Amino acid sequence: MTVRHFLTLRDLSSEQFRRLIRRAIELKAMRAANTLYEPLKNKTLGMVFEKSSTRTRVSFETAMYQFGGNAIFLSPRDTQLGRGEPVEDTARVLSRMVDIIMIRTYEHEKIETFSAHSRVPVINALTDLHHPCQLLADMQTFFEHRGDIQGKTVAWIGDGNNMCNSYIEAADLLGFTLNIAAPKGYEPNTDVLATAGKQIHIYQDPFKAATGADLVVTDVWASMGQEEEQQQRAAAFADFCVDERIMACANKEALFMHCLPAHRGEEVSAAVIDGPSSVVWDEAENRLHSQKALLEFLMGLAG
Ligand code: CP
Ligand code: NVA
Repeated sequence: MTVRHFLTLRDLSSEQFRRLIRRAIELKAMRAANTLYEPLKNKTLGMVFEKSSTRTRVSFETAMYQFGGNAIFLSPRDTQLGRGEPVEDTARVLSRMVDIIMIRTYEHEKIETFSAHSRVPVINALTDLHHPCQLLADMQTFFEHRGDIQGKTVAWIGDGNNMCNSYIEAADLLGFTLNIAAPKGYEPNTDVLATAGKQIHIYQDPFKAATGADLVVTDVWASMGQEEEQQQRAAAFADFCVDERIMACANKEALFMHCLPAHRGEEVSAAVIDGPSSVVWDEAENRLHSQKALLEFLMGLAG
């Protein structure tokens, strides 16, 4: 049997994506009702983190514990991966011991290499190119607040980064229009754009992109690994702060999302992220529920 990995949203069909969202909402209700549900008893998730994390680590670890299983945190500081053991060898060894693996790393190719040598499912917990787990939570959050996102308009304001690339794929799979406003030179990855449908529009004016949006999303200006570009990026993105003027261009009921961590006064104003349109705390919580649905799916416990 071929192993099912989750490296980008393209590993899901539209129907599977919607099913995961529905299941995440069910699992959230089960948790709220204190229903004991332990489908991953005696199963272990290996968690390889080459970059920092709060939400991703805690949500995956907690998901495994609530599912009756275990999680092992592995950082390059204290594994042989950090001392140059080949990715292929690490994949071969880890996947003979644990039942499923998640990886947060830099180069997307690394996770592709890893998964090609793994006997068990591999989950992309963020690479420089994609952050598909975050999109599961974002879409769950939209569905909970506003229903199906098909036919709606989303505005991405800021860097054409890993999150933006995953939004492009989500737009295709779930059928929404995506208006991207990025400064010149910071547009999304051209290969990702090449695979996108006609519903992606690129602007340089954040006000135009936000016009008529049902959801406005942004992210940090300098992602992990780009710390040295912080100053140069702050100058390039100066007009891309999602503030009340930008939100005023969106639809009256528009939601605001940010994958977090956020920098108030940079990519988003405090008034917006702490204001009535913001659903960032639901969005963060939904990492737990949506990843539980993902774990079930990859472990073959769901359709
Ligand atoms: N949104 C997100 O992935 O957060 P962490 O970096 O804290 O995991
Ligand atoms: N684009 C950000 C997302 C953090 C969750 C980064 O890669 O650092």
